[in-house]
Amino acid sequence: MKTTSGKAALERVLLGDRERAEAMVQALSASEPVERYTHGFHTGPAGLHPDAARDLIALFPGDSVLDPFVGGGTILVEGRAAGRKTFGRDLSSIAIRIARARTSSADEALLTRMRSASRKITEAAQKSTLQPPEAIQRVLEQWYAPYVLSELEAIRQGVLASEPDIRPLLETVFSSILVKVSWRKSDTSAQREKHHRPPGTASILFHKKARELGRRIADLRAVVPEGTPEAEIRRFDARQVSLKEQVDLVLTSPPYPSTYDYLPMQHLRRVWLEEREEQDALEVGARRLWRDGERAALKRWRSDTETWMKAAASNLRPGGHLVIVIGDGFTPAGPIDSSEPTELGARAAGLTSVARASVERPDHARGTVRWEHAFAYQKP
Ligand SMILES: C[S@@+](CC[C@H](N)C(=O)[O-])C[C@H]1O[C@@H](n2cnc3c(N)ncnc32)[C@H](O)[C@@H]1O
Repeated sequence: MKTTSGKAALERVLLGDRERAEAMVQALSASEPVERYTHGFHTGPAGLHPDAARDLIALFPGDSVLDPFVGGGTILVEGRAAGRKTFGRDLSSIAIRIARARTSSADEALLTRMRSASRKITEAAQKSTLQPPEAIQRVLEQWYAPYVLSELEAIRQGVLASEPDIRPLLETVFSSILVKVSWRKSDTSAQREKHHRPPGTASILFHKKARELGRRIADLRAVVPEGTPEAEIRRFDARQVSLKEQVDLVLTSPPYPSTYDYLPMQHLRRVWLEEREEQDALEVGARRLWRDGERAALKRWRSDTETWMKAAASNLRPGGHLVIVIGDGFTPAGPIDSSEPTELGARAAGLTSVARASVERPDHARGTVRWEHAFAYQKP
């Protein structure tokens, strides 16, 4: 059925199980800033709203959750808080680092060692005269003031030399400050904007973020029910995911078509962390594909949608649910509908439809409206 919500005179569509469709509309409407647990620790575009993740998990009970496009791990954080066994996959090594840190079950002793290592690294970085290795310096000097570059190199070396169990957390802390202290406008804009930050800013920010991560991990740990296994997160193509066990729920927010270039967006972080082997060509829905030709890009995205949905379905136990949150895309030629390819993908994957909610949202940047959808399917 189609209704018009009185408030903003925007349209919404609800189909199937009425109660679940209503709850899915609520999930799509979540917009309040959230500070709980590790949410928001590291910037990243297009994260699902934590309340939406929490409510959708609650709507589809079971023991386990898989997110094959895990990004920063929002869904897994909420899965852990709900006591689920959690699995995440993503192509981006940076996303994997963030998701692992944000779902970490590190105990207080480890977090204390992390903070103490961070303090030492910060002290050394404030006196740093180091420069990054020549191969990466040439790229990085376009993005940082020389003294910032020098501090960051000292932090990087300190992080790389840290103990193996705290290093992944410190790498994520390091990653979290790299755009902020650079001349890059933001994660999503590669525009250069020179600004001055006093010497020592990068070092102090690093320590501040290390303490913040420690606090947030402890906050999450306090609510995760005892006996909840660690999240299992790996770098892998969503189109080929094959877990050792079947799950009750696949909940995910895949890339919207032609909206972001997720992997190239992490350019600065990849250079600093010397990540060479990214698999950019495997990215689903990447905006850059549309620049090379609308028809071919659309065809490939539709086929990728079907492939990853089939893979997701193969990891579901019979009776399990696949729940997808996705918005329409935009190209210079107009909007790209995400709903039809998703419905076709579900059919090809042998899934049956349980409920659907679609809501119109104002898109202020384009002065228009954009549809956001939530689909719930079940494996027979
Ligand atoms: C919309 S984001 C996910 C956001 C996530 N739900 C969250 O709340 O943080 C989409 C993610 O898909 C990843 N991605 C793109 N193509 C992929 C592929 N073929 N396999 C796995 N991950 C992919 C991107 O790296 C990006 O992290």
